[in-house]
Amino acid sequence: MTWLEVKTYEEMSKMAATIFEKQLREKPHSVLGLATGGTPIGFYKELVQCYIKGDISFEEASTFNLDEYVGVGSEEATSYHKYMQEHLFNHVNIPRENVYLPDGLATNLEKECARYEQQIEQKGGIDLQLLGIGVNGHIGFNEPGTSFQSRTHVVELADKTKQDNAKYFPEGKSVPELAITMGIETIMMAKQIVLLAFGENKIETLNRIKEQGISEDFPASCLKKHPHVTIIYGS
Ligand code: PGA
Repeated sequence: MTWLEVKTYEEMSKMAATIFEKQLREKPHSVLGLATGGTPIGFYKELVQCYIKGDISFEEASTFNLDEYVGVGSEEATSYHKYMQEHLFNHVNIPRENVYLPDGLATNLEKECARYEQQIEQKGGIDLQLLGIGVNGHIGFNEPGTSFQSRTHVVELADKTKQDNAKYFPEGKSVPELAITMGIETIMMAKQIVLLAFGENKIETLNRIKEQGISEDFPASCLKKHPHVTIIYGS
């Protein structure tokens, strides 16, 4: 596990974009695992700039997002589909058929989870996975207690996660109770992982990764078993 401490949010975003840029240059048909939330917004801005400058192309790339809310349609403002369109997909040359997110409106959610796993496998697995981290140590929406053997599955969001994410929902609209998320094992199968964390509120969470053992009670601790993880962080 490599820890890279940065002074500013911009520095973290640029550093992460550089890793993705290198990945796309070395393997233009890379399969990228992507994350949403407040933390990676600057990273996507940097990545779009790299594309505009002509440093990278997404023409052959594919992307899989970590998660999506259940019951939220892809065109709704609070969906992760929409987030990704706004922050990345609308600004780069990625073919729409190469973009994958779980379908939060699927009538059979279990089938949708299995289909998502299959799609990742058919693409040859994820080369480089971006992660954020919840204050409770969740990665994707894998809340404390999630099995390390889990694959893409439906989860009930923890109260803390709903509180933390309420700021992304308009007033009067509550955070959904359920989401579809890649499982811990799905994430761990990525060849390389980059985790971003910025802010005072994440310091204690990061210290727990450093200081505590590996336990399903603290999902991010699984990353200690992965051979190629970079954590870029600051506060
Ligand atoms: P944040 O979310 O980037 O909005 O802090 C991170 C996460 O919950 O994974």
